[in-house]
Amino acid sequence: MTKPSSITFHDIATDQIAALEGQIAIFVSPDGKLDMSGRKVNTLSRKAISRFLESDTFQKASVGTVHAITCPAGVAAETVYVIKLPRRPTRDEARKAGVALGKRLGVADLWLLAGSLSGIENVMFGLVLRNYSFGKHKTSQADTKGEVHVAVSDPEALKAQFAPLAAIAEGVFFTRDLTNEPANVLTTTTFAEQLVALEEIGIKTEVLEEKQLHELGMGSLLCVGQGSDSPSKVVVMQWNGGGDENPFALVGKGVVFDTGGISLKPGAGMWDMTMDMGGAGVVAGVMKTLALRGAKANVVGLVGLVENMPSGNAVRPGDVVTSMKGDTIEVQNTDAEGRLVLADVLWYAQERFEPTGMIDLATLTGAIIIGLGHENAGVFSNDDALCKAFLKSADTEGEGAWRLPLAPAYDDLLKSRIADMKNIGGRPAGSITAAQFLQRFVKNDTPWCHLDIAGVASVSKETK
Ligand code: BES
Ligand code: MN
Ligand code: ZN
Repeated sequence: MTKPSSITFHDIATDQIAALEGQIAIFVSPDGKLDMSGRKVNTLSRKAISRFLESDTFQKASVGTVHAITCPAGVAAETVYVIKLPRRPTRDEARKAGVALGKRLGVADLWLLAGSLSGIENVMFGLVLRNYSFGKHKTSQADTKGEVHVAVSDPEALKAQFAPLAAIAEGVFFTRDLTNEPANVLTTTTFAEQLVALEEIGIKTEVLEEKQLHELGMGSLLCVGQGSDSPSKVVVMQWNGGGDENPFALVGKGVVFDTGGISLKPGAGMWDMTMDMGGAGVVAGVMKTLALRGAKANVVGLVGLVENMPSGNAVRPGDVVTSMKGDTIEVQNTDAEGRLVLADVLWYAQERFEPTGMIDLATLTGAIIIGLGHENAGVFSNDDALCKAFLKSADTEGEGAWRLPLAPAYDDLLKSRIADMKNIGGRPAGSITAAQFLQRFVKNDTPWCHLDIAGVASVSKETK
């Protein structure tokens, strides 16, 4: 797995600054105030910093901007980065400054001279997340990045403060690796293996194989993978860090590749469907983070791993399948496969665990990209309290999420002539009818949120 850059923590005296090699970063408040390390660098460089602070470039720069002063006199470092940041930055400002710095990280070591800057852990978090890259399939390896050092007044305290964020970064990197991995490498089998490996950090895992899925009656999930040579699987991951209360359930769509099946997708851009397991990837990453943080909570993650391929054995448009719940489904479009997978995993999660609540994540519809673009995930819920709590967390983290409605009139669009329902509702409100389909497999008293992450799981340009 891609490892987040490791960071070492130091308490250094100002008279050591002149000899630091590589790159130095200092923080300056928007009104141009330097802290102790900043003043030291300024003196050493014969006031190069204060001259820069008087410039239009600095004065007009927005908060979080990083400027480089190259090879100033008086210091061994080849670059001094000047970061414009208030002494008490918001979480977002601190993370964005870290991202800006992360973009510039090269082969040289970087020293963050942060003194007693509040929010430095968020600067580090932004830097670490920005430094992810997926290079394993490039034969010529990019130069390894330099080490990151942070010099602060209380290194031990900062280390403790950063630990939970480092655990998030590990989970995020796990998700990103899984999502980036092409489908010939990340098959249903190798995906399951990577999840079973989470046992090492204390997560209890089980892999339900096709035979068991048949016995459970998961005809809806199974029909999706029946045209593929890769066996369908459901992986259950349990983190029991709480008391003896029932767990919260996370459910992920894990379509390792979505050709559309017999309702074949057009060729252009089909390669992107290697990310159609992004929901399952997020569930896996969250489980990893929970374990690394030793979270005091009971959470069960369940992912449906399948591959949607056309073949002589594939499910046909018009076929009728029976879900684990017992409801029959007319598969009018084999490309609306994610909901078929989730229907059975959602039902299984409730039957087995009676969860206190449930969130599913799925790259479910192209329609959500038409509605919300790549800025917001679509959120659907049967429970205002859970939904509000989720939206609040998303907002705190600067993650785009926007609630869309559910209503019986949309549900009507799923009526089938020959079965209990069909798996598509037509062009209007495509993301909502997909969510309505899922809701048919959610018990009324299970608080539930569905996140349609098709637009946000994998983006091709930098986010704001
Ligand atoms: N995996 C796709 C949705 C998708 C599209 C994800 C673009 C990421 C980017 C999903 O399985 C799908 O094919 N949905 C169909 C549903 C339709 C047939 C009702 C779609 O959106 O076209
Ligand atoms: Mn599809
Ligand atoms: Zn899909």
